[in-house]
Amino acid sequence: MQINHKLHVAFIVDGNGRWAKARNKPRTFGHKKGVERLEALIEGLKDNQEIGCLSFYLFSLENWKRSSEEINYLFKYLVSFLKKNAKRLTEYNLRFKWTGFKEKLSNEIINLLIKFENDTKNNTGIIINFVFNYGGIQDIIYTANKLKNYPGNITKEIFLENSLLNGLNDVDLLIRTSGEQRISNYLMLLLAYTEFIFEPTKFPDYTLEIFYKNLEEFKTRDIRKGGYSKKDDSK
Ligand code: IPE
Ligand code: IPE
Ligand code: MG
Repeated sequence: MQINHKLHVAFIVDGNGRWAKARNKPRTFGHKKGVERLEALIEGLKDNQEIGCLSFYLFSLENWKRSSEEINYLFKYLVSFLKKNAKRLTEYNLRFKWTGFKEKLSNEIINLLIKFENDTKNNTGIIINFVFNYGGIQDIIYTANKLKNYPGNITKEIFLENSLLNGLNDVDLLIRTSGEQRISNYLMLLLAYTEFIFEPTKFPDYTLEIFYKNLEEFKTRDIRKGGYSKKDDSK
């Protein structure tokens, strides 16, 4: 496959809890390790010329069903990841984006996420998109309500610009770790022709080597988007 634009690769970070449980540790230990893997992935891919955007699904609106203890730990690890990497994001020329709703989040977290977006908005490198406190269906409903008095025809572009996905391209490759095979209300509006890889490795064990293996598999896919195969000369 010829790559002629930069790729949007979207991860569903999954398997932290089971990874920890298999080691007789609390689920929160899995989140701690998961955040370390996240850091290693960003570090390893920061100069990758094929990638334009890396999205990471870190907290869904449905994840509020979990215990407050687990949620507090997960948020704590993410906040310390951000604080620790504040300078590095800019040194690496990365653009930070937060995709998610403000509802139920503390002002401290909201302000931190917005500050990171502002501090890195003039960078020109890879977009690091934290999908945090997000739900794809809720975003569609939110956008429909926002546009209910819109004068004129609503196009795909106008709809997307008004959604929380403003500024993001369609996802080229979605990688879900831990072997689960579902979307779990992720970036619905950007997944129309996405290639999916369901990687059995749980996220705390997910390495750069596994990512490159996934990327190679993606490059073997025959992406037609309703048209003809690039390998097909019968047309
Ligand atoms: C993914 O790991 C991280 C979040 C959803 C926040 P899980 O916590 O879902 O881990 P499993 O799926 O229970 O193993
Ligand atoms: C999806 O994982 C959400 C995130 C990775 C943040 P879940 O572990 O919450 O999804 P389900 O419940 O298995 O579908
Ligand atoms: Mg899970």
